[in-house]
Amino acid sequence: MNPIFSLENLNVRFATKEGEVAAVSDLSFSLQRGECLGIVGESGSGKSQTFLATMGLLAANGSTTGRALFQGQDLLKLDRDALNKIRGDRLAMIFQDSGTSLTPHMKVGDQLMEVLTTHKGLSVEAARKRILEVMESIRIPEVDKRLSQYPHEFSGGMRQRVMIAMALLCEPDLLIADEPTTALDVTVQAQILQLFKALKHHTNSAIVLITHDLGVVAGLCDRVIVMYGGRVVEEGAVADIFARPKHPYTKGLLNCMPRLDQDLDTELQAIPGQPPNLQKLPPGCAFADRCAVVTDRCKTERPVLRDYAPGERAACHALEAA
Ligand SMILES: Nc1ncnc2c1ncn2[C@@H]1O[C@H](COP(=O)(O)OP(=O)(O)O)[C@@H](O)[C@H]1O
Ligand code: SF4
Ligand SMILES: [Mg+2]
Repeated sequence: MNPIFSLENLNVRFATKEGEVAAVSDLSFSLQRGECLGIVGESGSGKSQTFLATMGLLAANGSTTGRALFQGQDLLKLDRDALNKIRGDRLAMIFQDSGTSLTPHMKVGDQLMEVLTTHKGLSVEAARKRILEVMESIRIPEVDKRLSQYPHEFSGGMRQRVMIAMALLCEPDLLIADEPTTALDVTVQAQILQLFKALKHHTNSAIVLITHDLGVVAGLCDRVIVMYGGRVVEEGAVADIFARPKHPYTKGLLNCMPRLDQDLDTELQAIPGQPPNLQKLPPGCAFADRCAVVTDRCKTERPVLRDYAPGERAACHALEAA
């Protein structure tokens, strides 16, 4: 089966006065219809820039190489108009601060209506019914009043929910959600993740969910990619990664996560140290100065991402020695 979306050797660089920032390096993965892929990693590991690059939304000092194939078309080769056409129709994106991407001078209801009438060809009546359903399902109270308001009359969390509603209304083939619920409270968060699940189920949409919360990954994703220093360090089925993490960084992330079977008094272990400076990445493993099982080889030679089983990859010298 052809993947619906794949990245091939994606590199993202930023030119700065202090030198080049290697934000994303040699990133490759593919995604099938109906699949949900989680992308996890600490802040600054290149998660957001990967997808901003894919959508042609990098800052002016950024550049991209590689391929980003969506339904067979390389998004990196398309101009802004062609990309806009795909966005909001077959591909929807929700960003952490996506509230800002609502049109300020247009009533929220009209913006939602436009998605359905223009992109999806629904009648005004059918569109209105669908909007009410989705707004209620993401717990927006006083829907009628809300629809006739402008974005600035909404709180940040409420705007975020509207953006999520808009993405869900599109019923996209691919939904890319970058920390979509981070700013929202836990109950609303759970509700929205349920809606993502329903979207996957009903429309067979593929979902990329970027998050630093492994709990969210466990609840929704089929597969997960762990990023560190702009690279993939491990990839696998969610169940496998949780049961048998391979990479020392993945193990560290899992140790930071509260578990149900854990004594409440047990302290969670944060990974000591800081993420690497992407301007001065070391020649060897980027995790070396935080790794408990580091060897001399790790400091000079970068570990290659190797396949350990179908769909299971990791980049660590210790695994090769094992
Ligand atoms: N315009 C820019 N110029 C220089 N560096 C940038 C720019 N935008 C992002 N970066 C750097 O790219 C790296 C990856 O960022 P990002 O993808 O946002 O991380 P994440 O989403 O994983 O937290 C960060 O180190 C960030 O500082
Ligand atoms: S390559 Fe070495 S430093 Fe890097 S994660 Fe593996 S053991 Fe640790
Ligand atoms: Mg980010």
